[in-house]
Amino acid sequence: MFMSRYQACGVVFGIGLGLVALWTLPVVADEGEGVYHIGRQATGAEIQAWNIDISPTGEGLPPGQGTVSRGAAVYAATCAVCHGATGMEGPMTKLVGGQGTLTTNHPVKTVGSYWPYATTLYDFIYRAMPLTAPQSLTPDEVYSVVAWLLFRNRIIPENTVIDAKTLPVIRMPNRGGFVSDTWPDVYRR
Ligand code: HEC
Repeated sequence: MFMSRYQACGVVFGIGLGLVALWTLPVVADEGEGVYHIGRQATGAEIQAWNIDISPTGEGLPPGQGTVSRGAAVYAATCAVCHGATGMEGPMTKLVGGQGTLTTNHPVKTVGSYWPYATTLYDFIYRAMPLTAPQSLTPDEVYSVVAWLLFRNRIIPENTVIDAKTLPVIRMPNRGGFVSDTWPDVYRR
């Protein structure tokens, strides 16, 4: 390819500029905080607002409690439109039923048939539901709707009070149904 003298000059200049940038980069990075002059330190309140994960052990569950009857009201008002009146009709994901179907040709994966932990229900519902207004439910509302879903899936009796103590000890029906991948290239702890 033919290059004019100007184009050649441009290429050489460009390479030179790139080298200078590479050479100064570690120096700039070494100078530590504030060198980029963008953004600011996150405040404690902001970090707290982002730090909403609930682990399978229940670590991170907030104070508060919920009941099946209150959950029925929360569910009817904020969830039923997408998940159906009893959690089985849709139009979105089924949340109730499906137990005993996982080993058939038509597995129905729901909270009751598939999820290994009850605690992560709190995490998911608070974080992502209702789809149109995530993180809008109070802790008592989330605990209650979790209680309702567990009751509808025949996992807890109707009078169970769900809170940070009772939720982690619930054993989900499919808890033992997960196996490690045996392929040698899969990372194992
Ligand atoms: C506007 C529709 C809509 C509303 C309202 C809504 N959801 Fe959902 N929900 C969805 C959709 C869509 C998914 C699937 C999301 C995905 O797979 O990423 C979902 C997934 C879920 C799941 C995960 C199911 C699974 O097994 O993967 C749960 C649990 C859930 N919703 C609970 C609720 C609860 C509780 C409420 C009410 C507080 C609610 N949803 C309100 C649309 C909705």
